[in-house]
Amino acid sequence: MTTITLTLPQHDHEGQVMAARESLLADGADDGTAGLLGCATYRDWLDFEGHGRRDYGDGYVPSTTWLATLPDGTVVGFLDLRHELSDYLLRVGGHIGYSVLPTYRRRGYAKAMLAAAKDEARAIGIGRLLVTCHDGNVGSERTILDNGGQLENTVKDGDETVKRFWIDL
Ligand SMILES: CC(C)(COP(=O)(O)OP(=O)(O)OC[C@H]1O[C@@H](n2cnc3c(N)ncnc32)[C@H](O)[C@@H]1OP(=O)(O)O)[C@@H](O)C(=O)NCCC(=O)NCCS
Repeated sequence: MTTITLTLPQHDHEGQVMAARESLLADGADDGTAGLLGCATYRDWLDFEGHGRRDYGDGYVPSTTWLATLPDGTVVGFLDLRHELSDYLLRVGGHIGYSVLPTYRRRGYAKAMLAAAKDEARAIGIGRLLVTCHDGNVGSERTILDNGGQLENTVKDGDETVKRFWIDL
């Protein structure tokens, strides 16, 4: 069993998070980081509500963003749990986003992160989690299926096709 803890970001994670930002910038994806790539400083990123409201306006919903950490404190990924669904999130984005840092992929961390997020979601009263992925994102789809995801449908989001899965909690 992969040991992953969802850890709330603290000030002393700054070095690891900003280094992770560089590796995600090179990779081009920042799913589940609550907009880390758009934040120039750690302080700006930690103000999740401030930049969330700036970026999403009326579509902003409260969320919790965690670092995925190993027992020695190494940050290997990010996961964001939206506490409710806006129209856009219901149609496309879902309750959860996640990324594993490129050098830590294919070790079962995403599956362990989503499993831990199910407990967090249950704890705040969510009964059913909507988790989505782009068609063709095999790693994310397998992560969702392994966590009990049931495909509801696929929808178009601009040029992209998005698969929508529900996980009963
Ligand atoms: C998708 C992502 C989170 C997967 O993270 P990961 O830690 O490598 O995933 P895991 O190691 O837990 O693997 C989960 C499953 O997917 C498979 N998998 C992972 N990456 C894969 C890939 N690139 N191609 C095919 N299968 C893949 C694994 O073999 C495993 O399969 P299993 O069911 O046989 O065990 C990671 O690639 C990532 O961060 N991508 C960029 C951001 C992103 O796409 N986030 C998801 C948005 S919905």
